[in-house]
Amino acid sequence: MPVNLTVQYDGQFSDLAAKQLGKFATSLLQELGKSEYSVSVVLVGDQRIQELNNQYRHKNKPTNVLSFPFDINEEMDISQLQVKELGDIIISVDTALREALEYNQPFKDRMNWLVVHGMLHLVGYDHETSEQDAIEMFEKEKQLLAKLKNRRTRMANLAINVDHVATIREARGIMEPDPVTAAGICELAGASGIVVHLREDRRHIQDRDIYLLRETIKTKLNLEMGANKEIIDIALDVQPDMVTLVPEKRKELTTEGGLDVLSQMKKLTKTIKRFDKENIPVSLFIDPDINQLKAAHEAGATFVELHTGRYSDALSEDLQASEFALIGEAAEEAVNLGLRVNAGHGLNYHNTAAIASLDSIEELSIGHAIIAHAVFVGLERAVKEMLAIVNRAELAI
Ligand code: PXP
Repeated sequence: MPVNLTVQYDGQFSDLAAKQLGKFATSLLQELGKSEYSVSVVLVGDQRIQELNNQYRHKNKPTNVLSFPFDINEEMDISQLQVKELGDIIISVDTALREALEYNQPFKDRMNWLVVHGMLHLVGYDHETSEQDAIEMFEKEKQLLAKLKNRRTRMANLAINVDHVATIREARGIMEPDPVTAAGICELAGASGIVVHLREDRRHIQDRDIYLLRETIKTKLNLEMGANKEIIDIALDVQPDMVTLVPEKRKELTTEGGLDVLSQMKKLTKTIKRFDKENIPVSLFIDPDINQLKAAHEAGATFVELHTGRYSDALSEDLQASEFALIGEAAEEAVNLGLRVNAGHGLNYHNTAAIASLDSIEELSIGHAIIAHAVFVGLERAVKEMLAIVNRAELAI
């Protein structure tokens, strides 16, 4: 347990807030490259922190945060520690509340800042030794907070791909069932976004659908598409909330692999620039591969969507575990590069919880499993059941 968070505060501090702060501290340890160390974070009130401040610093007044490095003397650096223990961070929730009001800052941000400040003291930063040291510590705090802000500290969003509703409609070539109606039901059931793939061959979603969806969607329209001139022009006309660029082959049943960004750098960079001009963020659908991530970043993408197909199709637990590890590492790496992260493909009612529990993933894009389940239980229930899985994954950390 790298972060041991204890609440010894008599006032109100919810379990969820404690969990989120613990997760934040864990991400901070990772960011500092100190995941192998453990640290204790104790939340107290003003009375207790005043006692400690008096006992150890001879200052008989409350303070916001105190750091006690583990058994370390001035000359020692933490890499010499025998025990992988950084020490204790004590935070006064009372003072944090007062400071949040005083600086007009959300309480959660104040608490996160205090954790960063306390942690930097534990790893050797000190703002009291010289002006230069103070600047260095301040800069490091700023940099860490900016990086960690991109990480999710709440549940992943669920975006639903309604292509398969259109597939049923096209099987008859009539007007029913309508993916536009399906999108409305998904939203009412709690989905955070709707995804549709306008394919060159128009095998399911039609132009009419995306124009109508643009008018009716209340959450977020994510238009999935190949980087093809005709489709790009339509997308720029429709103005979705974001686009996800995918590789597209006419004969495939569904999107088969991730984009090879490296080999299409010029074309993708140009396409992303066109959407940038219209303030439409672009996501690139890629395999969890570090070289593709770097290329996506270089091409100017805002998001990547990590392809979960190999994880979902894995035939053994070992294979699934190794694919899961690749996705987890890629998600972390993407955030470090400054990319935002979504994930999807092949996710179902059995394999989604693990992916939803990954901190850096903001949104899951799920289609087939939900629409298939809806055939038996109805769309509203199918969406709600998936939402429950995604939400529980977060609470089960
Ligand atoms: N994300 C992308 C980029 C996709 O191409 C698809 C399939 O349309 C999905 C997510 C959803 O996959 P599934 O239908 O298997 O849930």
